[in-house]
Amino acid sequence: MNIKLSNGKVIPIEMHKVRVIQKTTLPPAEQRLKAITEAGYNTFLLRSRDLFLDMLTDSGTNAMSDNQLAAMMVADDAYAGSESFFRLQEAVQDVLGLKYCLPVHQGRAAENLLAKVYVKPGTVIPMNYHFTTTRTHFELAGGKVLEIFGKEALNTSSTDPFKGNIDLDKLHSVIKEYGPEKVAFVRMEATTNLIGGQPFSMENLKAVSKIARENGIPMIVDASLISENAYFIKVREKAYADWTIEAIVKEIMKQADIMYMSGRKSTCVRGGMICTNSKEHYDKMAPWLPVYEGFLTYGGMSSKEVEAMAVGVREMVEIEAASASADMIQYFVELLCEKNIPAVTPPGGLACHVDARKFLPHVDSLQYTAGAFVAALYLVSGVRAMERGTLSNDRDIHTHEEIPADLELGRLAVPRRVHTMSHCMYIADRLEWLMKHRDLVGGLKFCEEPPVLRFFIGKLAPINDWGRKLVDAFKKDFGDNC
Ligand code: F0G
Repeated sequence: MNIKLSNGKVIPIEMHKVRVIQKTTLPPAEQRLKAITEAGYNTFLLRSRDLFLDMLTDSGTNAMSDNQLAAMMVADDAYAGSESFFRLQEAVQDVLGLKYCLPVHQGRAAENLLAKVYVKPGTVIPMNYHFTTTRTHFELAGGKVLEIFGKEALNTSSTDPFKGNIDLDKLHSVIKEYGPEKVAFVRMEATTNLIGGQPFSMENLKAVSKIARENGIPMIVDASLISENAYFIKVREKAYADWTIEAIVKEIMKQADIMYMSGRKSTCVRGGMICTNSKEHYDKMAPWLPVYEGFLTYGGMSSKEVEAMAVGVREMVEIEAASASADMIQYFVELLCEKNIPAVTPPGGLACHVDARKFLPHVDSLQYTAGAFVAALYLVSGVRAMERGTLSNDRDIHTHEEIPADLELGRLAVPRRVHTMSHCMYIADRLEWLMKHRDLVGGLKFCEEPPVLRFFIGKLAPINDWGRKLVDAFKKDFGDNC
């Protein structure tokens, strides 16, 4: 929640008490250089012990609530017919207004099932923007992802409150060009991840859903970050200012034929699910659940996580939970903007994003601008962020050509209820220093490049050993132990 101080300044305030903590240490710069070198300049390959703050992702790293942890103690570990599942299903019915629930082990497992059932060779899937695992699954099934975002979506310093909207004219054109029978489904991603956690508006979602339904095309919402998107609708879309988050979430669900989510984000649990009100859709997907995931009542999740998810679904529509990371991100982004650091605006959900093309204008996309940025950030701060740029784009599946990303973003994730304002202030300070010394940072080149989702485990090296030079300059200003 935001709170206004007597001097008029607005700050994010924690609506919870921290009663369990995890210790962290700040490894000195020399150790960081050794760690990132061993990690092939890929922040995914760093070990936790070498991190001060882990801002890689909010996936599975949000702080769980006391009630979630308590629920895990009463899990019913039955292979089939587990009561834990029925508590989850009841929460889905109460909160989302959806009748059927298929649990899966995480979001990409839902994408695998959707791809298996709905994506056939030659079909297209229009969407506001792809997510890495989403595109891979749909392309592996022979489908083609079509991104039909609006004109502000890729503008990293915009005032458009809903950069996650779909362009309705483009949707009409896609349906006309391919014919409705070739459109596997329309996918709308909440708090659109790869363009900076940007939401869609309810107005746009309703219009998209209407067009899809008029053409007999299934409408699918990726609800991994649904509570944040609902919060943005409440604070940015006038007509919904007085609505509760729960009412907004229910209204979103009414527009969808199927919703799926990674439960690792909004519900703060290591799991996922696919939900629908349609028996027809349920019957198409259910037989495949035991093939790829597990029986219908656990779908690859542990019963403990199923219990925690039942609580998480109810808690994600509390305004304190829905706003926890969004308000902190807003504060973080404003802090960076004050220092002229090119943070993506408007602030989104999930993370504070930095436009690496603006931060490192001299580093070409094909030398992985955002990858270089997050490696440099780690070297000067011990903070782990994630590359969201050309490295995260696999090569063209047919020609194997590099595909320069639309955006080169350094993503500093703000998992819910984990970090504090002083953490943001520390990072802003180190980023300011890095900005002044950015000429020292160069590009990266691959040493080991995996064929698929290469950003996860690929190994790279700095061109011209710039890591060493950056650390030397850092030590000159801050000493050996910072
Ligand atoms: N859809 C969206 C919008 C996501 O952000 C993610 C994961 C997935 C699907 C896949 O879910 O990881 O549970 O299999 N996003 C994580 C991230 C990995 O760091 O942003 P998953």
